Amino acid sequence: MGCVGRGREIFFTPKPRDDNLFGRNKELEKLLSYLHDGVWVAVLGPRMVGKTSLAKSAVRRYVQDKNSMGIYINVASCGSFGEFSRKVVDSIETAFKAMKSQRRLKSISLGVYISDPGGILKTGIQFNVDFERGRSAVRNFVSAVNSLPPDTVIILDEIQEVRNRKDILLRSLWEIYNERPDLRIIFTGSYSGVLKALFTAGKKEAMFGRPPEQLVLSPWPVKTAEEYLLKGFEKCGIEYGHSEIADAIMTLGTLPGWLTLYGYKRCRGEPHERAKRLVRDEAVLKAKKELMNYVSTRTEPYKTIKLLKSLSEGPKRWSELKAVSRLSEPALSEVLEQLTEELGVLKKNELNRANVTYEFVNELYREAAKYLSTAEIEKR
Ligand SMILES: Nc1ncnc2c1ncn2[C@@H]1O[C@H](COP(=O)(O)OP(=O)(O)O)[C@@H](O)[C@H]1O
Ligand SMILES: [Mg+2]
Repeated sequence: MGCVGRGREIFFTPKPRDDNLFGRNKELEKLLSYLHDGVWVAVLGPRMVGKTSLAKSAVRRYVQDKNSMGIYINVASCGSFGEFSRKVVDSIETAFKAMKSQRRLKSISLGVYISDPGGILKTGIQFNVDFERGRSAVRNFVSAVNSLPPDTVIILDEIQEVRNRKDILLRSLWEIYNERPDLRIIFTGSYSGVLKALFTAGKKEAMFGRPPEQLVLSPWPVKTAEEYLLKGFEKCGIEYGHSEIADAIMTLGTLPGWLTLYGYKRCRGEPHERAKRLVRDEAVLKAKKELMNYVSTRTEPYKTIKLLKSLSEGPKRWSELKAVSRLSEPALSEVLEQLTEELGVLKKNELNRANVTYEFVNELYREAAKYLSTAEIEKR
């Protein structure tokens, strides 16, 4: 029968969730306390660690406590500030329309949380987004956000994708920050680009005297991962062996997202080996795409691929990587720093000063790097 027993909640949900998070109590409390303190927050971490789910869960709870509104906007498809502004304006407009007509929204890139729509409607807020054709994208963005009711929380998900005109993005966020001290924004994404600029005080484009708080999500400890799978298997009532749980975690790691997908497939009746292989293949494919995206931002993509392929063999020293890739020293330092600090796909092992190696953070990236090919750069 699978997990979807009648009247029972679904344990493994292969979509972001906003309730019943497993093993994230501390993080949820922390994010809620930031919201209650009125600060802006960046939720950071690798894909599939549960950033979107954590942000949504906190906002859903906060909105209930505070009697306010929450709006979730996924801006992953917005490469430029113009697209970003249009997406935010459209989303706020759609949210207002749905609220007025008391319809439910059906969208994966937009979500609205309201504790008491009647109450918000009664406050006399106009719910008119003052959009003008031909007016600058900044003005339209700022005025749409300004039309939100008091104490609204906005989640801007995948903000790192907005690459073009980060300076304008930051300036307009700065404006909101000053004009609407009651609003809170939660940013989510990987620690790169836009987010990094938000945190880098002192730089010309850094917007905050006080940067947003950072909440970094890590993969689960192995024990939590085991408990999660165990509980889910019990709930959906499948037969399983204990060694399968250990094997799944060894192959897939402890990111909640991949374990959820594995658990979902098991509960739908897939046997262990097959479920594991399907999820692993998907995870490796995603990792490969992420690596290729990064490679294509570099001025020396071929050398960068050489470097990644060499790392797919295992931990490597700086000198080895330099020899294999033939990158200049400054370029090599930059690539390694970006892959470690910003993308979080490599980790640095530092036994002592003379003994530093780099390696992939997990087997999925290591496997993905084996299959990188220069032919794909030519296709781009
Ligand atoms: N704490 C958690 N408990 C249960 N499932 C989770 C948890 N965190 C994430 N998930 C599941 O993992 C998958 C990925 O989560 P998501 O929030 O989309 O991650 P991210 O935004 O970091 O990529 C989703 O299917 C989600 O339901
Ligand atoms: Mg997400």
